[in-house]
Amino acid sequence: MELRRKTLAEAGPAPGRAFIRVDFNVPLADGEVADDTRIRSALPTLRAVLAGGGSAVVASHLGRPKGKVVEELRMAPVARRLRRLLDGEAEVVECPEVVGPAAAAAAAALRPGQLLLLENLRFEPGETANDPELARSLAGLADWFVQDAFGTCHRAHASTAGVPALLRPAVAGLLLEKEIAAFDLALGAEPRRPLVAVIGGAKVSDKILVLEHLVEKVDEILIGGGMAYTFLRAQGIGVGASLVEEDRLETATAILHAAEERGVKLRLPSDHVAANRFAADAATQEVGPHVPEGWMGLDIGPETRARYLEALAGAGTVVWNGPMGVFEFEPFAAGTQAIAEGVAASDCVSVIGGGDSVAAVKKAGVADRVTHLSTGGGAFLEMLEGKELPGIAALEPAD
Ligand code: 3PG
Repeated sequence: MELRRKTLAEAGPAPGRAFIRVDFNVPLADGEVADDTRIRSALPTLRAVLAGGGSAVVASHLGRPKGKVVEELRMAPVARRLRRLLDGEAEVVECPEVVGPAAAAAAAALRPGQLLLLENLRFEPGETANDPELARSLAGLADWFVQDAFGTCHRAHASTAGVPALLRPAVAGLLLEKEIAAFDLALGAEPRRPLVAVIGGAKVSDKILVLEHLVEKVDEILIGGGMAYTFLRAQGIGVGASLVEEDRLETATAILHAAEERGVKLRLPSDHVAANRFAADAATQEVGPHVPEGWMGLDIGPETRARYLEALAGAGTVVWNGPMGVFEFEPFAAGTQAIAEGVAASDCVSVIGGGDSVAAVKKAGVADRVTHLSTGGGAFLEMLEGKELPGIAALEPAD
């Protein structure tokens, strides 16, 4: 599957108004932006478009207001943060609506160098329904289209699929270009081998498609998190009171067979940090390979950490999604932290996505020592599943 799409640079100078779809779906706390990573990540594209002599209509969703105006999900805090980050480089004009006369007038009045930030796209019911009427109204605000909302590219919504079908050029912004390039480097035609996937998280059911796709591509898979216990149980290992998806035992067995058939080394935890209950202050013990009755495995143990770190040290490429344990409870965070440090210490190409894995890399203070931290959650997962994302497919192909 060809992932690359026409880029800003390939579009050439495209003056006039750009419609830039960004993913400013950021966490809020007390009415302010609590983490502005996604806003910062879009700045290079905003700057590049404005430097080309144009203006921009910038649009994002925020939360899931389900087609209604929800006061707490207005874009005002995002506008404040964007203004602060651009610090006088560009004027940020706020808009009280997504489409309508006020949005049309504000877009028409834009001067070169100005940004108009539309209200929360999901206040309009037509956004998630990919309503053609809404797409036409949004497209009417601008002359060309830039997609920079990687985190939302797995959604076929009016702003991600409808609008780019109506405007030309329709290109990838710099963030999207970077996300696509990172994927291509890690999982494209010629990754540096050995290619190691680290897959964690609570449930096998959430990662079946990822594992089925990766088993065709990688040399080694390291499994951690709650999902490991379904695999261990399928192999007859005692898992005590650990999380097991009984209805996924056959799936786990099928994945183990597929890995064996393809010569992929699928590694499972050989020891665990076990707890007597699911709580941050539970009693803990290191056990392995079996988890005793009445105890639950909540993190990979020291032997597993050492085995996984050895695999990471020898890797050419590492793709990582999902925590190795109940990372939000301090006593069970060591496995995930060790992976973050191991990836950073390795000479490998490393591509990391998903909230917990990215948080672990940041917490370990090694974000600048990995190749790429994705801004996508669901979008990153769907890429790992090998799916074509509608928001990327809607753009013009690369020259
Ligand atoms: C995300 O946070 O993953 C994206 O902004 C997409 O949001 P959604 O899951 O509400 O579509």
